[in-house]
Amino acid sequence: MTRTLHPIVPKLGFSLAALVIVSAAFAAPHHGAMKMKMKHPMKKAAKVTAPTKAEIAAGKKAFYTVGCSNCHSVGGKGGRIKLDGVAAEKGHTAQWFKVQILDPSAHHSRMPSFKGRVKGKELSNLVAFLTTLKKK
Ligand code: HEC
Repeated sequence: MTRTLHPIVPKLGFSLAALVIVSAAFAAPHHGAMKMKMKHPMKKAAKVTAPTKAEIAAGKKAFYTVGCSNCHSVGGKGGRIKLDGVAAEKGHTAQWFKVQILDPSAHHSRMPSFKGRVKGKELSNLVAFLTTLKKK
């Protein structure tokens, strides 16, 4: 009797301890994951609201290389339709500019769509540049 009980009792004690360790291990990374989730949207929001000087400069360059300047001018450089001060005067947001570039018909605009011609970082830089057009 005593011989058969002995190996069982320590085993029970061990599995109880293991259970405590396992549940503690489950609880710990869960808290960690919660904290990481909280950080993410804040980082993204900061990026959207504050384009860097480098992004704006790259956007201005794109304005001329992509072909906007065939029709539009900024600071006297480019085509006939002036975009100086357009962000401030008409209250256009970054999202509005993005739609104007990719789907101008949504704004009942005659402007050709640049969908597929401007994308990714170039598109976001161009939009960042347009939002800075606040002075005449
Ligand atoms: C073929 C000529 C042409 C090209 C190229 C062109 N646009 Fe336009 N765009 C227009 C015309 C015309 C208008 C205004 C009339 C309209 O919307 O129908 C306009 C309007 C706009 C407006 C709105 C201005 C306002 O007063 O609200 C923005 C912003 C704009 N364009 C940005 C761009 C950008 C950025 C590019 C390059 C990706 C570009 N355009 C390329 C012809 C062009």
